[in-house]
Order: sequence, then C-alpha cells, then structure tokens
Amino acid sequence: MIRAVVRGIGHYLPQRVVTNQDFEKTLDTSDEWIRTRTGICQRHFASDGEKTSDMAVSAAREAIETSGVSPNDIDLIVLATSTPDQTFPSTATKVQAELGMCQGFAFDIQAVCAGFIYALANANALLTARQARRALVIGAETFSHILDMRDRSTCILFGDGAGAVLLEAQDQAGGRQDRGILSSEIRSDGRHRHLLYVDGGVSTTQTSGFIRMNGPEIFRHAVEKLAESSAMAMQKAGLTRKDVDLMVPHQANLRIIHATAKRLGFPHEKIITTVDKHGNTSAASIPLALYDAQKCGKLREGQIVISNAIGGGLTWGSIALRW
Ligand SMILES: CC(C)(COP(=O)(O)OP(=O)(O)OC[C@H]1O[C@@H](n2cnc3c(N)ncnc32)[C@H](O)[C@@H]1OP(=O)(O)O)[C@@H](O)C(=O)NCCC(=O)NCCS
Repeated sequence: MIRAVVRGIGHYLPQRVVTNQDFEKTLDTSDEWIRTRTGICQRHFASDGEKTSDMAVSAAREAIETSGVSPNDIDLIVLATSTPDQTFPSTATKVQAELGMCQGFAFDIQAVCAGFIYALANANALLTARQARRALVIGAETFSHILDMRDRSTCILFGDGAGAVLLEAQDQAGGRQDRGILSSEIRSDGRHRHLLYVDGGVSTTQTSGFIRMNGPEIFRHAVEKLAESSAMAMQKAGLTRKDVDLMVPHQANLRIIHATAKRLGFPHEKIITTVDKHGNTSAASIPLALYDAQKCGKLREGQIVISNAIGGGLTWGSIALRW
C-alpha cells in the first residue's frame, strides 16, 4: 500500500523576539501571569514587510534541502494559514512560484490552529490516492497582524513563524512497522465558531479584523476534543498509548497540553513543548515543534508520533505517524 512518508523538515522564525516583559511596558499584565496561565515566555513577530509567504518559502527551502530532492520533484503544496498574503490568489501558489516549481498544484487550507493537521490529512489523502507523488505541507502564519495589542487576554498568546514537511508517497507493506502517516482524524463543529474568531473579513467589514476569544470555554473544549480525537487516531492505527513515543501537540497553552496528555496517559517526558519560546503560532506550531524535537534528538526515525490540534471553527484533529 501507499504511505505518505516524511522525507524532510524545515522551519523559519522571524528575528524579532518579543518577551513577556515587553508586554508589561504597554499592558496591565505581568511575566508571572503569562507564564503561569499559558507557559509562554516569548514569541517571534514578523518584521515590517515580512509576509507569510516569505516565511513559508524559507521553511519549504529547508525541507526540500533536507529531503535531497529538487523543487521540480514536488507536485503538490498544501499550505495551512489563516493569515494569507492576499485574499486571493492562495499563498501556496506564491510559494510554488518562488520555489521555481512549474508543475503540480498548490492550494491553501484554512482551519486556523488545526490547519497543519488538516493539511497533513489532505496531503495524505491525495498522495495515497496517487494524485501526487511528493507534497510540501506547510504551516505559516503572521498572527501578529491580527492581534489587538490593547486586548491583554489575546495579544500575549500568539506568535509568527513557519514550518514545513516534505511527504513522499512510498510503497509499504501496510503493517504497523510502516513509516509514514498511519491514520488521521479531523473534525469541526461550526456551532462553536463564536468562541474564537476574527471580527473582520472581506464580505463583512472589508477589513482583516482582530482575534476575539472566550479563553476559558476554548480551554474546556480543547482538552476534551484533543484527547478524544487522539484516542480515535490511535485506535484507527491500531496503536495503544504504550506504542506512542512522542506527543507533538499544537502549542497553544502548556496547561492544555499537560491536561490532554494526562487524559491520554502520556508522561511528561513523551511530550514536546515549544510554547514557552514560540507562543501559539497557529498552523505553524506543530511543524515548528517537530523541527525542534528532531533537532534536539528527541524525535528519531522510526518513532511513533501523535500530533493533535484545535482551532477556531471549532476545528480539531489528530494524526498518528511513524517518523
Ligand atoms: C486565555 C487564558 C490563558 C486565560 O486564562 P484563565 O485562567 O482562563 O483566565 P480568565 O480568562 O478566566 O481571566 C482571569 C483574569 O485574568 C485577567 N487576564 C486576562 N489576560 C490577562 C493578562 N494577559 N494579564 C493579566 N491578567 C489577565 C482577566 O481579565 C481576568 O480578570 P478578572 O478575574 O478580574 O476578570 C486561558 O483561558 C486559555 O489559555 N484558554 C485557551 C486559549 C487558547 O489557547 N486559544 C487558542 C486555541 S488554538
């Protein structure tokens, strides 16, 4: 059978680092409050003129380089973002052009913080259906542009960045030892869209708007839904919690991550966290965390990984894969 196997990974973080202490200068907040409620110490913000596509291209180039393929060996780009360069065309087509790719197809996915899980699930479906052979799956965001810097309950949470993985369709035996994506589980429930949204848009205000959020309600949904969908992805892949080497979750809040892991029965040493240094980079957070985990030697070829994410919509999902 065909599996979508990870061949390479890349990342990009803007140079500008904004610490909690920086927010203390302009807001009624404190480093202590932010750290204890969220686990965040700092985040990166894009510089003036630095666009989502610029960050996506940098991450994609590194993923291509580490894969040892050339851009013309790639025939699919799925780019998850809620902060595209323009309303249209898609940021994915811009990345395609910047990489010098002249074949295949490219499109954006908008599932907010669950975007990278949605993108992986969609790329996996296209690769296993033989619609493409190699896919760049990218999460890239400039959330700093949709933050209301006077709203202390949201602006301290988010950051900018990009991550990318290169997936390749490979023939595998179809067993549990196969590398690649083993299962996916994606969900949404639009009845909860008022809990986390942007108060602008092309057909409503003709502005891009700012993030608005009911934090405690999102927290409650997050732990329940992330644990449930991860359990479902594990079940679909025939895995028990003991088979899982690492949980690489969306990085929104350390307390959400720990509560989810507790429900799933994963000890802290199996959890990858980058929320302290990146904040919540929405669709970019999982590939950035995967990158970090691989770089520091915690994530190695052959290991079983569970990734999960939830975002505005609500949208949520989980992926089980063998790295
Ligand atoms: C946002 C979040 C950190 C708030 O933590 P909380 O413990 O739920 O705090 P509450 O919202 O109940 O607010 C508690 C108090 O802190 C205050 N507060 C909010 N932000 C603050 C800040 N940055 N600094 C200081 N105080 C703050 C509130 O105004 C409130 O004050 P009040 O009691 O006087 O009204 C938490 O709800 C959360 O992380 N939710 C999930 C959000 C998320 O991850 N969203 C993205 C999903 S992809």
